[in-house]
Amino acid sequence: MRAFYFLGVTVLAGTLAAQINYDESKVAPYTLPDPLVLASGTRVASASVWYKQRRPEILRLFETHVYGRTPATHARTSFTVVSVDKNALGGKAIRKQVRVHFSAEKDGPKMDLLVYVPAGARGRVPVFLDANFAGNHTLNKDPGIRLGEVWVRDEASRNDPRAKELVKHVRQVAKEEARGSTASRWPLEEILARGYALATFCYQDVEPDFAGGMRYGVRPLFFRAAQTEPGPEDWGAIGAWAWGLSRAADYLQTDKDIDAKKIVVMGHSRLGKTALWAGAQDARFAIVISNDSGEGGAALSRRNFGETVKVLNTSFPHWFCANYRQYSDHVDRLPVDQHMLLALIAPRPVYVASAVEDRWADPRGEFLAAVAAGKVYELLGKQGLGTDQMPGLHQPIMKTIGYHIRAGKHDVTTYDWEQYLTFADQQFGMASRARHGAKGRIADR
Ligand code: GCU
Repeated sequence: MRAFYFLGVTVLAGTLAAQINYDESKVAPYTLPDPLVLASGTRVASASVWYKQRRPEILRLFETHVYGRTPATHARTSFTVVSVDKNALGGKAIRKQVRVHFSAEKDGPKMDLLVYVPAGARGRVPVFLDANFAGNHTLNKDPGIRLGEVWVRDEASRNDPRAKELVKHVRQVAKEEARGSTASRWPLEEILARGYALATFCYQDVEPDFAGGMRYGVRPLFFRAAQTEPGPEDWGAIGAWAWGLSRAADYLQTDKDIDAKKIVVMGHSRLGKTALWAGAQDARFAIVISNDSGEGGAALSRRNFGETVKVLNTSFPHWFCANYRQYSDHVDRLPVDQHMLLALIAPRPVYVASAVEDRWADPRGEFLAAVAAGKVYELLGKQGLGTDQMPGLHQPIMKTIGYHIRAGKHDVTTYDWEQYLTFADQQFGMASRARHGAKGRIADR
């Protein structure tokens, strides 16, 4: 079976492609595992049994069968503030660039964190932490963003769709032309104007995203003596990227401009899967947002619509733990489904967003996972979505669980961000701050 990722599109060979279902009437019936029943069969009837028994049980199941276990030992992370510009973006922001070393070896893996704080903020501000795909310099035309090193597909292999093996990846210094190339996904001025900081890093700094990229990332730092490959329950790349988000949170806790009790972790697509897994493991993430995360993220695995576990394991063998492969043809045997990942975030707010044309990610499966997580939130005295009817386009639901589906394709748009900002305002009780904001510079909205 061959599959490869080509120019942003997953190209599947033969039979696997033919197995992808996009017909709602062909979704086979399925039964979800109950988040409120212990492995012993006993019903979880109180918050304390949830926190003491069922939650750890579910977390362990995700570690063992899906994402792999994050090492308990700590790498020797250190931070160096490389630059601070108090007059960035024409005076609207303070821009900080921080190098995060993941080990004592200065030439070992490291990431470059880019942080924008609204200028003139009164006191510490909440922050959105959102890893980026292609390098910090792609966020905005801001000439002050350092051109770091990025991993790219080798140009010579780029146009050759014959085999996965031909697509090589190389590390190179980022190119000036790419400055601002993903700006449509980062409405930075609006985020700042609403009183939030933004922190980001390129996920490929933590581990480059291709099979075999592991050796250039953080996972080998945790290998046991003589180990060269991950064991069946060892973490995959998603686990490593999620760990990177936690290391960014370590830095944010030291930054005097940031309210570290208000870190919103967010991610798009594979980084949405990553944000959810980070939020499940690290309670410092006060709100967790999944943008079009799809299979292996917010979408129910048991619903055979769009991408499948088998596709994930075939196209991206490095993302999950090796045990996950057992479920490629037996998704019904998975002891968890993705509603339980959302439930691990409870009682903290979680927001799931879909795009109607993003059928690959199964918008309805994303919605139904958010519905099914609701009973855990309700047990803990919070609000689930309160409906099992999918809302229409652009009709966000914002309880402790949030959800929207918008028009358009797989992407992060200003519409998505506006909902996340409003959701965060609501959860943090910041509505008035959004209007009055920093130095009265806030446009009336
Ligand atoms: C592929 C993959 C998805 C993933 C997406 C992305 O389409 O199949 O699971 O979410 O890439 O990260 O862009």
